Amino acid sequence: MKYANEINKRKSFAIIAHPDAGKTTLTEKFLLFGGAIQTAGAVKSNKIKKHTTSDFMEIERQRGISVATSVMSFDYRDTIVNLLDTPGHKDFAEDTYRTLTAVDSVVLVIDCVKGVEEQTERLMEVCRMRDTPVIIFVNKMDRDGKMPFDLLDELEEKLSIRVRPLSWPINMGKDFRGVYNLYNKSYVSFSPNKKATDDDIVPLKDLSSSFVDENFNEKDADQLRSDVELIEGVYDPFEKEPYLEGKLAPVFFGSAVNNFGVKDLLDTFVEIAPLPKPRPASTRDIDPYEDKFTGFIFKIHANLDPRHRDRIAFLRICSGKFERNKFYHHVRLDKDMRFSNPYTFMAREKNIVDDAYPGDVVGLFDTGNFKIGDTLTEGEELFFTGIPSFSPELFKELVNKDPMKTKQLEKGIRQLTDEGVAQLFTQHNGNRKIIGCVGDLQFEVIQYRLLQEYGAACQFNTLPFYKACWITGDKQKIEDFIRFKGQNIVEDKDGHLVYLAQSEWYLNTERSNNPDIEFHFSSEIH
Ligand code: G4P
Repeated sequence: MKYANEINKRKSFAIIAHPDAGKTTLTEKFLLFGGAIQTAGAVKSNKIKKHTTSDFMEIERQRGISVATSVMSFDYRDTIVNLLDTPGHKDFAEDTYRTLTAVDSVVLVIDCVKGVEEQTERLMEVCRMRDTPVIIFVNKMDRDGKMPFDLLDELEEKLSIRVRPLSWPINMGKDFRGVYNLYNKSYVSFSPNKKATDDDIVPLKDLSSSFVDENFNEKDADQLRSDVELIEGVYDPFEKEPYLEGKLAPVFFGSAVNNFGVKDLLDTFVEIAPLPKPRPASTRDIDPYEDKFTGFIFKIHANLDPRHRDRIAFLRICSGKFERNKFYHHVRLDKDMRFSNPYTFMAREKNIVDDAYPGDVVGLFDTGNFKIGDTLTEGEELFFTGIPSFSPELFKELVNKDPMKTKQLEKGIRQLTDEGVAQLFTQHNGNRKIIGCVGDLQFEVIQYRLLQEYGAACQFNTLPFYKACWITGDKQKIEDFIRFKGQNIVEDKDGHLVYLAQSEWYLNTERSNNPDIEFHFSSEIH
């Protein structure tokens, strides 16, 4: 328990949302409260508005220069808050899924007009796989959106999680008056673009207070009282335990762009969000309070400047203390390495760090030693589990356009897929290379980067597959299946067997024809 003081200060989380719900805006307001930035507009949206490669590359270039926005750390009320950034574009969702393996909780932003959207559901599925605690922020209450009770029902239904409002809006849209905080019984009135200091908060003993009658018209006062009575009747009182187990999501209402409801959210976050937790590894669970250092790589960021091929690998510290210039064991390569320039990130700058603790993320310069999922230890042979690859949704064959550059292409595609840009599958007993992606933009990026960084020209031929299923089961049965379905069998980068299904119908047919084989939609990296 040598480092308990440090560990007990750290809360690491990500903000997740369907694009346009307000993630960037909320991030910025958090950073303003944390004093990490001084002016609005300092956080650049990583959203790709035009769907073109050059637009993406421009953004990546900017991000490459200021990798700082990948992790934003700030102090708030004696807590060191580490906010991990996630890509704003759905084509890069896999990057987000992996970032979710490195955080201890998430804040989910919902647009009150649109409710639960497609990407919201998928992100929440990933959170549920790991029982990640979730706080929900219903944003854009200054617009006429869905009725709050309907939204709560929709959240429960579509996200399969119990919800519990901790704040409650009084009207919405142009009539939006403010929110009543059910957690600490106080009222904050809405005014656009406010700074939200403590002074705006009016503590109320309960809603029979004369303040309510004096400040609201009769209709609003009655509505608030009956809503709150209904909430207290229908929902159990808020308890921290089910929230920490990922079973119950507290809900806040506000308007990020108006900086409204954000402070309530942040105050509650630092109060209830989890500290770094034990993490499962191949041999045992690793407790953050152990003296010895462990950590894993969850993201690799390429430097897109061809003159500087180095990359930055993002290391999540899981236990002990990480120190600059100390030798650590790279388990997969069975190699000891030390890092002379590890970075931490403040909102806009990166700083060399001497030591870091569980919950922190440091950036390590990498010349090709790391791939996603790699573990560093002080010598113990173990690797962290629970860092999955998910089935891609689009599959294309990689075709070399320049036979003179075969080697460069091979190297380039290995390195890019190590970074997690896409997944590489190789034909079983063959050489065909199949790239699996979540979105089309990823293929464009690969093509662009192979040419720019490795001098290798390629093209992609679309393949008619819809899902990759990792297959496990009885050896003989698998061999028979491979003989029968050879055309559809590939291996992932770790040599695991994968069946590529043309359609749901094919998949279901194979499933029922092969009851001794298990078909998985995700696979552990390693
Ligand atoms: P994202 O990162 O989740 O994709 O969303 P982002 O914060 O970029 O917000 C998406 C749009 O929603 C932005 O408008 C932003 O100003 C707006 N927005 C965020 N919070 C609120 C809110 O509480 N109320 C209202 N009415 N709008 C909100 P935009 O026009 O796309 O961009 P911009 O030009 O205004 O920056």
